[in-house]
Amino acid sequence: ALISLRQLLDHAAEQGYGMPAFNANNMEQVHAIMDAATAVDSPVIIQASAGARKYAGEPFLRHLIVAAAEQYPDIPIVLHQDHGAEPAVCFRSIQSGFTSVMMDGSLQADMKTPSTYEYNVEVTRKVVELAHALGVSVEGELGCLGSLETGMAGEEDGSGAEGVLDHSQLLTDPEEAADFVKKTGVDALAIAIGTSHGAYKFTRPPTGDILAIQRVKEIHARIPNTHLVMHGSSSVPQEWLQIINNYGGDMGQTYGVPVEEIVEGIKHGVRKVNIDTDLRMASTGAVRKFLAENPKDFDPRKWLKASTKAMKDICQARFEAFGSAGQA
Ligand code: G3H
Ligand code: 13P
Ligand code: NA
Ligand code: ZN
Repeated sequence: ALISLRQLLDHAAEQGYGMPAFNANNMEQVHAIMDAATAVDSPVIIQASAGARKYAGEPFLRHLIVAAAEQYPDIPIVLHQDHGAEPAVCFRSIQSGFTSVMMDGSLQADMKTPSTYEYNVEVTRKVVELAHALGVSVEGELGCLGSLETGMAGEEDGSGAEGVLDHSQLLTDPEEAADFVKKTGVDALAIAIGTSHGAYKFTRPPTGDILAIQRVKEIHARIPNTHLVMHGSSSVPQEWLQIINNYGGDMGQTYGVPVEEIVEGIKHGVRKVNIDTDLRMASTGAVRKFLAENPKDFDPRKWLKASTKAMKDICQARFEAFGSAGQA
């Protein structure tokens, strides 16, 4: 059954667990998430970006989740829209049946330029007003995702201009967070602590100076009743990086957010943990390996099955580590 983000995260806070929120674009990803949830009895958050809607088409995306609810009737599902660039995007998703939307007002509608605080409050409050009237939850974001090492906003391929974000934009301020939550009424707040989207987050295994879990604790101490969200929280599994490169890939050396750091965050108010890159890497690695080892095969179901299994294993490991296993 579909439930709202608020319902799920209130339960997570009561019971002290965190929820991975996996991005999905196609049937195999939905299968992987739902199979893993079934194996360990976890609720799920499936999130779709504007890019996912463009890839699959709105009806396919919507029906994938309807199909998941039908095929897996015992698993509570939050259908969340990831990174809405402007209120109109969120409104369209609400119309489409999403039970939760993210209004990302930390950036202007171009999704590149940092916005002003006043703009962020205004657009987020606007979405909350309509969404709450319809029982839909809202996630806001305060602070900009980006690297404390380089000031880069974090591009998918590791490229991008250095130093576009300054230190204060890269770490959410606890006082401002309190004001933002009060003014907007968001159900969950995404915070900036040095993580960025994509595989190229850290040039070395992160330490406290470049991954500010301490900041999570300071924000949670100031707004203990707000559900915190960590974006850019893929762990960038080194074993999948190796497999990709061993079977014809060419990814640079890079590091993600260690699972144990996320677990530390969950002890201090983090309830939703966004993960996309890890499933992309597992899927690509598994497909490269399968095709290299089975050169005679040409039935796509075989390599897609390998991809689904690899993604499922990651999902299951996160449900177990974050404590949502057994909570469905
Ligand atoms: O926010 C980033 C997520 O990983 C979604 O990525 O926009 O390529 O679908 P996407
Ligand atoms: P990753 O790129 O670390 O998987 O982050 C995904 C994310 O934050 C989606 O909103
Ligand atoms: Na989101
Ligand atoms: Zn994100």
